[in-house]
Amino acid sequence: MNVDRIELPRPDDWHLHLRDGAALGELVAHSARQFGRAIVMPNLRPPITSVAMALAYRERILAAVPAGLAFEPLMTLYLTPKTTTADIDAAVACPYVHGVKLYPAGATTNADSGVRDLDGVDTVLSAMAAGGLPLLVHAESIDPQVDVFDREAVFVRETLSRVVERHPQLRLVVEHVSTAQAVDWVRDAPAHVGATITAHHLLYDRNAMFQGGIRPHLYCLPVLKRARHRQALVAAATSGNPKFFLGTDSAPHERSTKETGCGCAGTFTAHAALELYAEVFDRAGALDRLAGFASRFGPGFYGLPVATDRVTLERQAWTVPASYPLGALGEGELVPLRAGEEMAWRLVAADAIR
Ligand code: NCD
Ligand code: ZN
Repeated sequence: MNVDRIELPRPDDWHLHLRDGAALGELVAHSARQFGRAIVMPNLRPPITSVAMALAYRERILAAVPAGLAFEPLMTLYLTPKTTTADIDAAVACPYVHGVKLYPAGATTNADSGVRDLDGVDTVLSAMAAGGLPLLVHAESIDPQVDVFDREAVFVRETLSRVVERHPQLRLVVEHVSTAQAVDWVRDAPAHVGATITAHHLLYDRNAMFQGGIRPHLYCLPVLKRARHRQALVAAATSGNPKFFLGTDSAPHERSTKETGCGCAGTFTAHAALELYAEVFDRAGALDRLAGFASRFGPGFYGLPVATDRVTLERQAWTVPASYPLGALGEGELVPLRAGEEMAWRLVAADAIR
């Protein structure tokens, strides 16, 4: 399929970092321009661990939505060793909470309050399975002996398989899959196990991180892998299998915290997410499958309606700005993916201006 214009039901982002405070306005605006809803990650400082905190955060996000745009934040709780079944029951009862995020302790940005021992949260996982509340997993081993490029495959094989065996009814999303092993595992798992895939993992392999020098803005977790893994992700995303759906993992960090001696993990893609995904599907000759991946399979997994409004993308060149402002962190600025580079697709109409 070779077309220059494509129309989709308004997509949603099933894995997004919006941060908090003064940065919220700019970050919400980037996402609300493109997406109708987003699963909002709870890895703030302090983490969002209760329904009350999630509801307060939701209000702050809603207050930051630019006039004329409609954007619905879908809230999540951060699983810690202290999470109780009462916390889960409250989340199940709350229409605004859509999942609980599992960070293996220390695995990524603001993951230090996460879980080291999954057996310790077994009753909590049982309560989630019983209540139908999805577990959203950052699937990387925290064993320091495990090579950084193998952490996802090891976690999926050794830990996730056990979780699914013990909790066969638990709805589970393997977030930001980055390896062929994770793709295969999700594909062969029960129907209520899905995965999100980011634009950057679909577009780049690990060589891009070292292209002519070190490229800190391509450093994210899970780290980019070999070309064959990227190819497996593209095959999964464009396969039409509803288990695989869009989640940007757009993870903003102020420029100076990325371009430094020990830089933070996270790639910012919310400024052009749909255009980046369109490029992937176009190159794969699968633009006709973009609407499933971006607009239908996520709502299907989460039991929510597909959007009734639409967005339009056109094959049209434009140049990504060198940076965007980021209010929260003082003089902050944000270096987006493809900064200063040309894009092939452009979001031209979003009848969401409501
Ligand atoms: C995320 C962040 O910055 O919050 N970073 C990242 O590299 N993806 C955390 C995460 O999702 O791992
Ligand atoms: Zn993330």
